[in-house]
Amino acid sequence: MADIRAMCAIGLSGQLGLNGRLPWEGNKEREFVADVARFFEVTRGHVIIAGPATIGSIPAFAYEDRTICEIRSTHHPEEVLGWFPDRVVYVGGGPPVWDVYAPYIRHWDINRLPYDGEADRWFDPAWLVASENGG
Ligand SMILES: NC(=O)c1ccc[n+]([C@@H]2O[C@H](COP(=O)([O-])OP(=O)(O)OC[C@H]3O[C@@H](n4cnc5c(N)ncnc54)[C@H](OP(=O)(O)O)[C@@H]3O)[C@@H](O)[C@H]2O)c1
Repeated sequence: MADIRAMCAIGLSGQLGLNGRLPWEGNKEREFVADVARFFEVTRGHVIIAGPATIGSIPAFAYEDRTICEIRSTHHPEEVLGWFPDRVVYVGGGPPVWDVYAPYIRHWDINRLPYDGEADRWFDPAWLVASENGG
């Protein structure tokens, strides 16, 4: 079975996304730049699975040294995870994807950034304790 993980960055109230992008996109302050750099460092050599909007925001260079796979709601999570046996798989969101894949995720890496502005996508703490039987 794959080693299934998740990595995300959130604002101070759990902000995840805004207008299809990161809410703090373009912010050049140290924490924000370091967060993006660390995402590419940690996922290097591994698999990222994510919904179409999240995949669309991944830059071309990222395809050089990791496996990036768009997943759709028609795929069952066990089918998708079965495509990558013996790999480290990062479940990259967005929220509907984490709603479904959370029970399979063993390791969460969450960076809480100093952002206090608006958002239209939010982190749900229930993901951290989700179980396959709906708990
Ligand atoms: N802060 C962070 O770390 C972070 C990380 C990721 C994303 N984001 C942000 O989140 C936003 C994008 O997320 P999004 O949710 O709007 O779009 P998304 O990334 O396309 O993810 C949602 C879509 O994934 C597809 N999907 C694949 N497997 C699924 C499943 N088993 N169950 C349900 N849906 C599944 C569905 O599309 P179909 O029904 O068409 O297949 C669903 O609409 C952006 O603002 C992005 O910047 C932030």
